[in-house]
Amino acid sequence: MSMENQHLEAHRLRVEEWLRNCFQDREPRGDLYDAMRYSLLAGGKRIRPVFLLETCRICGGDPEAALPFAGAIEMIHTYSLIHDDLPCMDDDDLRRGRPTNHKVYGEATAVLAGDALLTAAFEFMLDPAVSLPPERVLDAAGVLARAAGGQGMVGGQILDMAGEGHSLGLHEVEELQKLKTGALIAAATEIGCALAGGTAEQRQAVRRYAERLGLAFQIQDDILDVVGDEATLGKPVGSDAKSEKNTFVTLKGLEECRELVVKLTQDAVGALSCFGAEGDGLCQLAESLVNREK
Ligand code: IPE
Ligand code: IPE
Ligand code: MG
Ligand code: MG
Ligand code: MG
Repeated sequence: MSMENQHLEAHRLRVEEWLRNCFQDREPRGDLYDAMRYSLLAGGKRIRPVFLLETCRICGGDPEAALPFAGAIEMIHTYSLIHDDLPCMDDDDLRRGRPTNHKVYGEATAVLAGDALLTAAFEFMLDPAVSLPPERVLDAAGVLARAAGGQGMVGGQILDMAGEGHSLGLHEVEELQKLKTGALIAAATEIGCALAGGTAEQRQAVRRYAERLGLAFQIQDDILDVVGDEATLGKPVGSDAKSEKNTFVTLKGLEECRELVVKLTQDAVGALSCFGAEGDGLCQLAESLVNREK
């Protein structure tokens, strides 16, 4: 996966810097902030904040003003990974190339680090210093709250857990994938558009793009869980089989899944036609995810 496009790479670097600095004025609370920063600064791909900032840019907004939202969505994503790896969930030992949070800090601190990342996301979005019209802030924070909760990511995670060990149908797997992964990715683009004050047409277009891409992204994640390389991936291979998960790969096999990823990515790119050449960055980002190895 590459971020050769200059806008995308600039967004990624800005969000890295913002995340490095965001907790600097906080009172230490035991090892809570160390645990939060341990996972947050472990070098994920940052695709959600990059989706958010690039969408904001192409809808006519200022990516710099949207940075707290980009950081916030990465915090929520990181919290979901910390909790996803816990023994009571996927029980994995490696994440972003490091031992998982609970392996280093213990389960209680890992749970609390996740909780504090989730709430910090809302602190930063609702900070009075955010230099955006309040109605756009409200719109964006509402989108993220809905996408992260029981009707979104958390809802998908519980369907994923509930399906362990018995076979789900295609529609059920698609639903859980859309929720556990698609919801946050769709929120990233929708928030970018909301903060820019984009049109209803733009908002619908980026949502359609992200919904297709979110599904492609999770199918590719499931493919990599079978054929990936642990050192490159930075997380274990074979985690899904170990937990007897339902994935597109278990339903359709690798070959059909690879074709599906290509097809969904083409559909995603097609949804951006109203942006003309301004949509090139999001198109390139989508295409770079098809062949990603991590
Ligand atoms: C992993 O997400 C979990 C899924 C939703 C598939 P990413 O593949 O974006 O993980 P990082 O952020 O790069 O570590
Ligand atoms: C989890 O999906 C998606 C989340 C909401 C965290 P996975 O369990 O497949 O994610 P990985 O493979 O552990 O990153
Ligand atoms: Mg999981
Ligand atoms: Mg997992
Ligand atoms: Mg996975």
